[in-house]
This record gives sequence, structure tokens and C-alpha cells, in this order.
Amino acid sequence: MARSFPEGFRWGTATAAHQVEGNNVNNDWWEWEHRENSVCVEPSGDACDQYHLYPEDLRLLATLGFDDYRFSVEWSRIEPEEGSFSKASLDHYRRVCATCLANGIEPVVTFHHFTTPRWAANDGGWADEKIVDRFTRFCEKTTEHLGDLIGRACTINEPNVVSYIGYQMGLFPPGVVDADLWRAAYTNQIAAHRKSYDAIKAGRGDFPVGLTMSMSDYQAVPETDDKAVKTRDSIRYFGEDIFLESCRGDDFIGVQTYSRTRVGPDGQLPAEEGVPTLPLGYEYYPESLAATIRRAWEVTEQTPILVTENGIGTDDDDQRVAYVRAALHGVLDCLDEGIDVLGYTYWSLLDNFEWAFGYGPRFGIVDVDRATQERRPKPSARWLAEVVRRNALEDR
Ligand code: BGC
Repeated sequence: MARSFPEGFRWGTATAAHQVEGNNVNNDWWEWEHRENSVCVEPSGDACDQYHLYPEDLRLLATLGFDDYRFSVEWSRIEPEEGSFSKASLDHYRRVCATCLANGIEPVVTFHHFTTPRWAANDGGWADEKIVDRFTRFCEKTTEHLGDLIGRACTINEPNVVSYIGYQMGLFPPGVVDADLWRAAYTNQIAAHRKSYDAIKAGRGDFPVGLTMSMSDYQAVPETDDKAVKTRDSIRYFGEDIFLESCRGDDFIGVQTYSRTRVGPDGQLPAEEGVPTLPLGYEYYPESLAATIRRAWEVTEQTPILVTENGIGTDDDDQRVAYVRAALHGVLDCLDEGIDVLGYTYWSLLDNFEWAFGYGPRFGIVDVDRATQERRPKPSARWLAEVVRRNALEDR
């Protein structure tokens, strides 16, 4: 027996400019990677050279039968100095969108995926309210140039990660630990999402727009302990809910889930004994996707959901297949419950630059030989392509 996905369910893979293009030298991440005593294990360098090799990647994606390609436009290439826009860079992304369409793939464009141009980062970044208008103007210009070719747009990728890890943990740029700056950063991100959402909708083209959220299945341990429940709810409120609440009524909300977070009465708990952990430190827990889809559906008051990222960083490709299979059964359960899940996007098409972790963790369904830039689809790519072709999954 097979379990089928609804007709029109979107299948995609995702990447982000800084993780695959190579030589994005003009943003805050490049600077962060090259700082003395950087927390990054290695710099991004040439990455997967997708800036030049995108036609090959899009041909491969088409061969595998996917509907969508989610990628990001690099703000620091498009607006290298404040107010000066590069027509050549905009033309580049226009060619990327056109090449998607020529291959029968819909371009899903993210406007901000973790990286900010140096000029904006050095002038307060997300913690300064000037960023709201700056980001909106960049979205306007880009939509003016590409809007007729865009299939779907994501404003900001995982604002909750950018503000929390950058301003509370000090592990992403600007690398500070400051509660006031953290609050300023997430407040500006929410304002920037709202303002850019309207600007993109008012611009060229007519396509759905949404925010993408890093989500975790927050579990109170034990579930019957009031204090644990309270602590869980307050961590989750600042981690997710304030963003989700601001997205009610949007065209869609992007759900991006990798694992769960266990919370006891006094705060976050380590991995449960006996549950395997992955190279990024969290638990192997594919059931988290369904839990977070349900949660996003509830908090956004039934805003349509697109899984814009789900995946696993592992060298064991069989483990990847098992993970995605379990996660997809969870998606089917959510669909059975009546939740409007529009599609599933696997992170990532390619093994790529995993931020501070460098090139160690391998999330791709396609292996990249970084000396030759040769792409080699893994067995998981073939397996997922077959699921896409059948639009169905074998029974549990
Ligand atoms: C980010 C990606 C990242 C992935 C895997 C998400 O938080 O959007 O850029 O590579 O998770 O860690």
C-alpha cells in the first residue's frame, strides 16, 4: 500500500547564496569567517561555485523531477554600497530565475538568508531601525527586476536564529551577547518582514510571499510538571511565537525543522539517553516536523504551510533516507488531519557551507567534490526523486 500526497503538492530542494555561490566577500559572514580567532571552523571560499555552475545544478534538479528550487539572492552583491544597485548582479539572478523556468522549475526566492551587506552590518545591522527601510528598498528593487519570473518569495530566513544566535549567543555575526540588542534585532526583523511583505506584494509579478521560521518540537519534561510546561512555553514564546503571531494571514508560513528541544523546570535539557545525536549536536528526531507543522498551523491561525526546509546533516545516506521517510509520514498525518501543507522542500540540494561548522556536516542529496566542483547525486537523491515521481510514499 502507498500513501499519496495531494495533487499539486510541491516538491523542492533549497540552498542559500552564501552557502553555495562562493566568494561572497562583501557581507558580514565573510568578515566573520576571516576574523582572528573566528568561531568558524573554516571560511566559505569558493563554496560550490554555484554563482557560475547554476545551469548545471538546475539541469540536475530537473532530471530528478523536483517542482521548486528555493535559493536566496545575495543582498551584498545587489547593493554593494548603500543605495548603489548593481544591474549586473540583478541580471545574474534574472538569468537564474529564467533558467529555473526553462527547466520547468519554479524559482522560490529568499531575500535574506543570514547574510547582510557589510555597509548595513557595520551601521547597526538588525539592531538599528534603519534596517527596516533599507531591507524594504532592497526587496523593492529586486522585485522590480525579477518579479515577473518569481514563483514564490520568502522575505527573511529564520529571523529567530539570526537574532538569537547573533545577539544572545555570540556565535553568528555580530557576535554579541546583549539582551537589549537582541530585542531590538527581532523587533526590527518583524517590522522588516511586514514592510517588505507589502512592498513585494505591491511590486511587479503576482506570487505568494511569506516568512520562513526555524522551528523545534519543544517538549516539556515531564509533560505533567507545571513548572516545566511554563518554562517550555516561555522559551518557545520568544523563540517562535512572537514571529508566528506576526505572520497570521500571510500567503504562507515556511516551516523549517530539524529536531526537538526538551525543556525541564529549570531550562533546556541535553539529549535523551539512547537517542542518537547528529554532528550539529541535536537529536535524530524526524517526528519533530509533524509536531511543528501542527504548532505553526495553530499559532498562525491556519495560515497555509510550506515546509521550506527539513533535512539531516549526516555522512550516512541510509540514515538520510530513513529520516526523510519518517518526516514525510508525519507530513501525511498532518494532511490527513486537514492541515493545509502545500509542499516539502529538502535541505539541501548540495553538500555546502554549514556556517560556523564549515564543510563538515553534509546535508546534501548531491555530493560536491570541492576540488573539481563535480556533482554526484547520492542514493538518497534517487530515492527522493522516486517519491516525487509517484507523489506517494510506501506505507509505514
Ligand atoms: C538554515 C540553513 C542551514 C540549515 C542546516 C537552517 O537553519 O536556514 O542555512 O544550513 O538550517 O543547519
